[in-house]
Amino acid sequence: MKIAPGCALFLSGCAGTQSVLNADGPSALALQNLIFLFFAVCGIVFVLVMGVMTWALVRERHAPAGQPPIERSMGRIVSGAVVATFVVITFLTAASFYATPSLDRGKADPPTILVRGQQWWWQFTYLDPDPAKTFQTANELHIPVGTDVRLRLEASDVIHSFWVPNLAGKQDLVPGRENGLTLHASKAGVYRGQCAEFCGLQHSHMALLVVAEKPEDYARWLNAQSGPAAVPAESEAAAGKLVFMRKPCAACHTIRGTEAAGTTGPDLTHVGSRSMIGAGLMENTRGSIAAWIADPQTLKPGNNMPLVPVTSEELRQLSAYMSGLK
Ligand code: CUA
Repeated sequence: MKIAPGCALFLSGCAGTQSVLNADGPSALALQNLIFLFFAVCGIVFVLVMGVMTWALVRERHAPAGQPPIERSMGRIVSGAVVATFVVITFLTAASFYATPSLDRGKADPPTILVRGQQWWWQFTYLDPDPAKTFQTANELHIPVGTDVRLRLEASDVIHSFWVPNLAGKQDLVPGRENGLTLHASKAGVYRGQCAEFCGLQHSHMALLVVAEKPEDYARWLNAQSGPAAVPAESEAAAGKLVFMRKPCAACHTIRGTEAAGTTGPDLTHVGSRSMIGAGLMENTRGSIAAWIADPQTLKPGNNMPLVPVTSEELRQLSAYMSGLK
């Protein structure tokens, strides 16, 4: 917060978990400074305009009768105002251009994570030179703290926009086109993000979490996630695995290490390790997993998860299996 500490103090009332005014990364900081700059300049212009208007009204009221009109000096004031407006707008435009390139730094570097936006969830592919170590996950992006992470942004269906306000600006995901974004978290934490381009009925339920963690924690997470799914230890979960493979679940979802290899829905290999389900819809508990399977269309109308008829016993088994996929 280099610019206008007064504005920062005033605007900090709006800061929260997900906020552009609580920057924890260089691009977010550039944009936050831009917001403060715009606020300060617009604030000064507002005060000046109101001041001149008040002066004009007061002067008119107290003008002695028969005072000559002041058109000539007004002409000079108007010309001055036009020039000042041009200068201010040019300055703010230049400041915007200066801040924007910071969204995608290091374009020459290969991206490390492929982000694919779809109605209405986020697919993350962690790319590794060794194809056996490349893996997919959904809606929860883990990154190491204190370093640039290059994302390649793509969309499957319609235009989405990747926005984690505390870490970077918005970048669109456009079908048939590749965009890039550099994420950089200055400190460890969990940052909420949200699709920022209207993309259909459940646009508002297209959230994500970015977990920025210390490099050693990140390496541990990568290692765990790139491995196959856990083998269920207890009998209810083992029965749930059989139900999953028997029902249409396996046709749409992948669980690495099993025969489930569908690619329509999110990869569920380590779904139990995520903190939310349904792209930020609900906290990830065994109960919410069961609720989701039982009635996905009431919880998130229009999403691609069909209602799969299951008995209450199968539901208990499925939820035990899936919440155990850590
Ligand atoms: Cu995706 Cu809005």
